[in-house]
Amino acid sequence: MLGISTILIALVVCLLILHYLKQLWSHRSYPPGPLELPIIGSIWKLGYKLSPDILIKLAKQYGNIYTLWLGPMPIVVLSGYEAVKEGLINHSEDFADRPVTPFLKVAAKEQGIVFSNGHIWKQQRKFGMVTLRKLGLGKKGMEHQIEEEAHQLVETFARAKGQPFDPSVPIINSVSNVICALAFGHRFSVEDKEFLKLLEAVDRLLKFPTTNSHSLYEISPWLMEHLPGPHRKTLACIDIIYSFVKKEIKKHQENPAVHEPQDFIDFYMFQMTKESKHDPNSTYNEENLTQCIFDLFIAGTETTSLTLRWALLHMANHPDIQEKVHKEIEDVLGSSQSLNYQDRKKLPYTHAVIHEIQRCQYILFFGLPRQSTKNVNMLGFLIPKEVIVVPDLQSVLLDPKQWKTPEAFNPNHFLDKDGRFVEREAFLPFGAGARVCLGEQLAKIELFVFFTTLMRAFTFQPPKGVKQLSTVPEVGTSLVPFPYKLCAVPRCSSS
Ligand code: HEM
Repeated sequence: MLGISTILIALVVCLLILHYLKQLWSHRSYPPGPLELPIIGSIWKLGYKLSPDILIKLAKQYGNIYTLWLGPMPIVVLSGYEAVKEGLINHSEDFADRPVTPFLKVAAKEQGIVFSNGHIWKQQRKFGMVTLRKLGLGKKGMEHQIEEEAHQLVETFARAKGQPFDPSVPIINSVSNVICALAFGHRFSVEDKEFLKLLEAVDRLLKFPTTNSHSLYEISPWLMEHLPGPHRKTLACIDIIYSFVKKEIKKHQENPAVHEPQDFIDFYMFQMTKESKHDPNSTYNEENLTQCIFDLFIAGTETTSLTLRWALLHMANHPDIQEKVHKEIEDVLGSSQSLNYQDRKKLPYTHAVIHEIQRCQYILFFGLPRQSTKNVNMLGFLIPKEVIVVPDLQSVLLDPKQWKTPEAFNPNHFLDKDGRFVEREAFLPFGAGARVCLGEQLAKIELFVFFTTLMRAFTFQPPKGVKQLSTVPEVGTSLVPFPYKLCAVPRCSSS
C-alpha cells in the first residue's frame, strides 16, 4: 500500500516538474528575466519590500528589455532612454493599448480615458484634450484658478508662523481642488467631510497596486472575491469615488448650464446631447463621463501634489539652490507684480529647478502600463501581441547615458552655459507617444505657479536640529516622501 502511494506521489511530482519545464520552454521566446517559479512566477525577485530602484537594478542584470512574470502573466519592462523611446515613440501605435487585468476591469470598467482602449479611448481622449484646452482659456480659466489655490496655500503655510509642520495635506487639498474646479466648477473646503473621505479613498486606491493582495487579485480574482482582505476595502474606495462623482453629475443635471458651459461636466453634457442626435456609435454617456472624471482625479491629484511635496523637501535640503531661485524671482518679478505661467520664460533657473525636481525625484514607480496591439520586433526582441509592457520612466530620467550627474540634484541639466533654459529629449516624466499624459500642460502650469508662488513667500528649512530631510521614498504605485516636517519662514519681501 505504502509502495503505491509513494509511486503516486512520485508520479504527481514528475508531472508537475514536466509541466513546469514545458512552461519554461514555451516562454523562451520572451525577453530574458529572473527565473520563474511555479505559481508566483518571477515576482519573488522584486523582494518582500520593494526598493525604489529595483526595476533599474533588474535592467543592469537582464538588459534594457526584460520580462517579469506575475504568476502566468508576462510583463515586459523597457528600461533606459533608448528602449523607452523605441517603444513609446518609434512604436507608438504598437503599444497604444492599456492592459485590462481583472482588477482594472473592476476599477476602470474599460471606460473613460486612462484604462479604456479602441473607439471609447479615442473619443474620450480627444474630447478630454479639447475640453481641457477650452477650460484653460480666458481670465476665469484654469490658470486663474491655480493662482487662487496657490495664494490660499500661502495663507495656510503662513499660519504655521515659521514653526515645523507637515505640508502634505494642505498641498493635496489645493491640488485636488484644482481638479474639482475643473471637473465640477467649484472647490471644496478642507473641513468638508465628504471631500476628505474622497481624498482618503483616492489615497488608499493608489496604494493598492503594489500590495500582495493586488497580485493575488490579478492571479485569482474569482478566489479573492470570496475572501476577506485589503482588496475589499479598496473596492469600497472605488465605490466612494464613483458616488462622489455621480452626486456632482446629478447636481449638474438638476441645474444644467443654460449659457456657456463652465466646467468638464457641463461640456460633456452638451456633447452627450449633441452626439446622441446624429452618431449611433457615440460613446458619450453617463458611464464614460463618470469614469473620465474619476480618471482626471486619480491621474491629476497625486502626481502633481507629490511633485510639489518633493520640491519643498529638496529646497529645504539645498539652501544654495533655493537662494538662487529666490534671487532670480526677486530680480525679475520684484515684490509687487502678480505672477503667471508666461513668467517661466523670464525665470530660466527656477524653471530648470522644477524640471530637475521632476527628473531627480520621479514620482511614479511602475508608471502606467501599456499593452502591445500586435507582435512587435524591437531592438532584437519579439514582444508578442497583447502583452503588458511597462516603460520604466524613472530609468529614463536617471539614465547615465543621458544625464551628467544622474543621481545628484543638479538644475544645470536644464541650463546651457549662458544660463538659458534647455529642453532635454530624455525628459519624459509625462510619458510619450499616443498615450502621453493628457494633463501635461495643466500639470506644468500647476507646478510653475504653485512652486514660484510658494518660493516668493517663504524660505523652506528643515526643523531646528535636522540637517537633511530624507529623500528615500516609500514605494507604492507612486514614490512618496516619508511624512516630514519643515519650516516655511516668511520672506520679508513677499507680496
Ligand atoms: C506632475 C504631474 C503628472 C505626471 C508626472 C503625469 C504622468 C503621466 C504619465 C507617465 C502617464 C502615462 C503616459 C504614457 O502611457 O505614456 C499619464 C497619463 C495620463 N495623465 Fe498624467 N501626469 C501628471 C499630471 C496629470 C494631470 C494634472 C492630469 C489631469 C488633469 C493628468 C491626466 C492624465 C490622463 C487622463 C492620462 C491617461 C492618458 C491616456 O491613457 O490616454 N495627468 N500621466
